[in-house]
Amino acid sequence: ITKIGVLTSGGDAPGMNAAIRGVTRYAIQKGLAVEGIVRGYEGLLSHETMPLNRRDVGEIIHRGGTMLRTARCLEFLETDTQKKALDYLHKLEIDALVVIGGDGSMRGAQALSRLGMPTVTIPGTIDNDMMGTQYTVGFDTSVNTVLESVNKIRDTAFSHDRVAVIEVMGRHAGFIALHAGMASGAEAVLVPEHPVDLQSLCEHLAESHRMKKMSSIVVVAEGAAKGSDVVDYIRNHTYLEPNLTVLGYVQRGGSPSAYDAIIAGMFSQKAVDSLVAGTYNCVIGLINNLVVATPYTEAENLRFPIDENMYQLVHWLGR
Ligand code: F6P
Repeated sequence: ITKIGVLTSGGDAPGMNAAIRGVTRYAIQKGLAVEGIVRGYEGLLSHETMPLNRRDVGEIIHRGGTMLRTARCLEFLETDTQKKALDYLHKLEIDALVVIGGDGSMRGAQALSRLGMPTVTIPGTIDNDMMGTQYTVGFDTSVNTVLESVNKIRDTAFSHDRVAVIEVMGRHAGFIALHAGMASGAEAVLVPEHPVDLQSLCEHLAESHRMKKMSSIVVVAEGAAKGSDVVDYIRNHTYLEPNLTVLGYVQRGGSPSAYDAIIAGMFSQKAVDSLVAGTYNCVIGLINNLVVATPYTEAENLRFPIDENMYQLVHWLGR
């Protein structure tokens, strides 16, 4: 191969820029040319691309978001659309594509690889919920952002003897809620992986209150329940005073943590090395602390769920 394309797709994540920089500079180091594709798969349809050299990716390692922009391109689910994108990649003389994104983005990469375009995917999503890896770039930063906010909310919850309900991102997975809940000493976390039982949550909170715990933190993943429903339920079924904070997009922004910037660089190296070695159509991942490349077909059977022990422990330690 002589030329690769790189794009970011789906929800942005802190560390995506570090990955763009890593892919670009390491590929150039290996003698390859690099073309950046703007707005994910959409850029392959609207023909928005830019050549990337070493200097183009300067001053971005510490920036949140993605300099290449990103999009969720639903059209890309259709084979005709995928073929158009493939034609354009051929026109640009791109021999292989690096996709930085989450599960949906990986499915797009897989579709292109089925049509004959070699691809590798670098996991980039705050949700940490991808096949073939125990870690996705952006997760650590996001958890730290949530932690910082919960610590502030805790101060005011304590002062007013309130139950602070904090809704965090995670439509399909509870990683952010669980890890931020563990780190912030939450009394309870609600995750999509477990059935939500608001009645027992209320009993738990009321019991803690009887034991002179005057304030509590409850972290709710958006995929488990709406924070507002949790607050209403607590208000209607206990004598406690709940309040709600929906953290929203603050969780996706900001400079990457040291860990995210480092992992982004390591994933980038593995992605380019895989392409150069002819090991295509795989997802880069961190498994047992090693950076590995797993074929998409095998990755489908490599799912890493939330840590059930940690889930138990949060509730034991939070009282
Ligand atoms: O990127 C993942 C994620 O942050 C989810 O946790 C969240 O539900 C979703 O993206 C929100 O995406 P959108 O940008 O479409 O609102």
